[in-house]
Amino acid sequence: ARAWRGIIEEYRDRLPVTDATPVVTLLEGGTPLVPAHRLSQMTRCEVFLKVEGANPTGSFKDRGMTMAISKAAEDGAKAVICASTGNTSASAAAYAVRAGMTCAVLVPNGKIAMGKLAQALVHGARLLQVDGNFDDCLELARKLSVDYPVALVNSVNKYRLQGQKTAAFEIVDTLGDAPDVHCLPVGNAGNISAYWMGYKEYAKDGVASRTPRMLGFQASGAAPFVKGEPVLKPQTIATAIRIGNPASWDLAVAARDESGGAIDSVTDRQILAAYRLLAREEGVFVEPASAASVAGLLQASERGEVAAGSRIVCTVTGNGLKDPDWAISGAPAPTTIKVDAHSAASELGLT
Ligand code: F0G
Repeated sequence: ARAWRGIIEEYRDRLPVTDATPVVTLLEGGTPLVPAHRLSQMTRCEVFLKVEGANPTGSFKDRGMTMAISKAAEDGAKAVICASTGNTSASAAAYAVRAGMTCAVLVPNGKIAMGKLAQALVHGARLLQVDGNFDDCLELARKLSVDYPVALVNSVNKYRLQGQKTAAFEIVDTLGDAPDVHCLPVGNAGNISAYWMGYKEYAKDGVASRTPRMLGFQASGAAPFVKGEPVLKPQTIATAIRIGNPASWDLAVAARDESGGAIDSVTDRQILAAYRLLAREEGVFVEPASAASVAGLLQASERGEVAAGSRIVCTVTGNGLKDPDWAISGAPAPTTIKVDAHSAASELGLT
C-alpha cells in the first residue's frame, strides 16, 4: 500500500489541474466510510457514515480548499478572502499558510463555534466579525473580491465544488458502486451540488452503474429550500448551516430533482438527538450541523421514505471538537476525587 496523496493527486485526471498548477495540499480526503451498526438496525438499511471530520482541518471544506487555493496560486494570487460560518474560514486559513498567502475571513459576529474561531486565529488569518449573518458576510466578501486584489474562495468559486465532488468518488471506489441513497446537511448548498456532480460523472463514465437519490436536510429555522424562498433571519443551534440565502440554489435544486431526491428540514431537537446518538451509539463525534444528515435519515425512515434494505451513506461533515459546548452542556458534571483507589472504585460503581 502507498500513502494517500491528497485529492488532487489521487483524482488528478478528473480535476481541472495541469502540470502548471502548484498543488497546495494537506493530504485531505481518503476519509473513513464507517459502517453504522445502530443506525442500520434502526432503519433496517445498510448505513455508512462518511466521516469528513477526519480531514486535516476537521471538515469536508479541505477538499474544495486544496483546489481553490492551488488554482489561486496558479493565477498568482497573494491574498484570499471568504465568508464563513466557521469551517470554510478554518480551512482557508490553513491552506493559505501552505501557499504563503494572506487570508481574510468574514464571520457572523458571535455565531461561529469556538474551535473554528481558534483555527482561523492560530493560522494567522485576518478575521473580521461582521454584525450580520452569513448571507451578509458572503455579499461583503463578493464585493471585496471584485473591488480589491483578493481571490474569493467560497463555494461560488468553481474550483471548490470540483474538489468536493471527490468525496462521491471515494464512496463509489470503496463500495464498488453508488449507494441507493445519500444523505447530507444543506447550508449554502455547495456540498450537495458537488456530490451530485461526482456521482453523475462516475455514472456517465461507467465507474458506477447508477446514481443515488440525494436527500438534503436543513435546520427548520434555516430552511429556504423547504420554504421555496430565502429566509431573512435564519436561526438554528447548528451554526454551520445557519444560512438563509444559499449561493448554490439552482445546482442544489437540480441535484434534488435529477436524482429523484428531496431537501427537507429537521428541528434543532432532532439534530441534537442525532448528535448524541452518533456519539453514544456509533462512537463518532460530529458537530451539530453534521448530525442533520442522520436526523434526516431517521425522519425519512420513520415516514417510510426509504425502503428497507437500502444502502445509505450519510455524510457527517465536521468534527465534534469544533463545537464542544453542546457535548459538555448535555452531560452531567464530572465528579472530583482524591488520589484514592477506593473512592474511584466506589464512584465508578465497581464495588
Ligand atoms: N456541515 C458543516 C459542518 C458545514 O460547515 C457546512 C457549511 C455544511 C454542513 C453545509 O454545506 O454549505 O455546502 O451546503 N459550512 C460553510 C462554512 C457555509 O462557511 O463553513 P454547504
